[in-house]
Amino acid sequence: MLILLMLPPTKRSQRTNFPFQIVLEVMNTPGASKPGVSCMPVPRFGVLGSGKGSNFRALAEAFKEDSRESEVAIVLSDVEEAGILDLAGEFGIPHRFVAPGHFRTRMSPEAEEAMVRLLQEARVDFVVLAGFMRVIKEPLLKAFPGRILNIHPSLLPAFRGLEAWRQAVEAGVTEAGCTVHLVDAGVDTGRILGQSRVPVRTDDTADSLHARIQVAEHELYPRMVREFARGISIGPRDF
Ligand code: GRF
Repeated sequence: MLILLMLPPTKRSQRTNFPFQIVLEVMNTPGASKPGVSCMPVPRFGVLGSGKGSNFRALAEAFKEDSRESEVAIVLSDVEEAGILDLAGEFGIPHRFVAPGHFRTRMSPEAEEAMVRLLQEARVDFVVLAGFMRVIKEPLLKAFPGRILNIHPSLLPAFRGLEAWRQAVEAGVTEAGCTVHLVDAGVDTGRILGQSRVPVRTDDTADSLHARIQVAEHELYPRMVREFARGISIGPRDF
């Protein structure tokens, strides 16, 4: 709803000979950002995950607090029984299993194209990987260029690939952490957007370190996702 307010003159409106100051307020408009600031569309995120979905929960809870700033539009998984799909249901967010095809480390091209279609039908602006265990290929990279984010449980470029927390414990480092980065055609190689550091304790096991890294992830990811989306203008959704 657009509201036009006519208020008593200010010094500035008097200088321009306006008898009133005119204030435009945008109120309760779905898709609008903060009242009185602008009428930018709310960024819509599509989340892809293969596991329990604790990072998705952190995102959904953060966005629920201010639904005018960001919205998870759809959750997709390559694992039919993944906890992330149940969680999406609990949050009332549309969710779908997409059968991955017969490759182990990536989706088949057809399956990835099916994901692209679902994301576009949900009018998604950004894709957020939250424990998605397959390498992203061209269909998604082309459909969302520079707009796919991932969180990785190490201080990249250290410990790329699987179970980075275990790699950190085995390497005997004293500091681990997590990294939010853009996704490119490599594995954990895209531009780094932000990191959180987590000290490694002398008595840490792979599991105890992973648990503390996840606490850091749940704070870092929603913050970085919001900041990134704010910094990029969203074009008209014309897919
Ligand atoms: C996280 O540790 C994340 O860094 C990695 O996969 C894990 C997903 O955990 N990419 P969850 O499903 O979000 O709990």
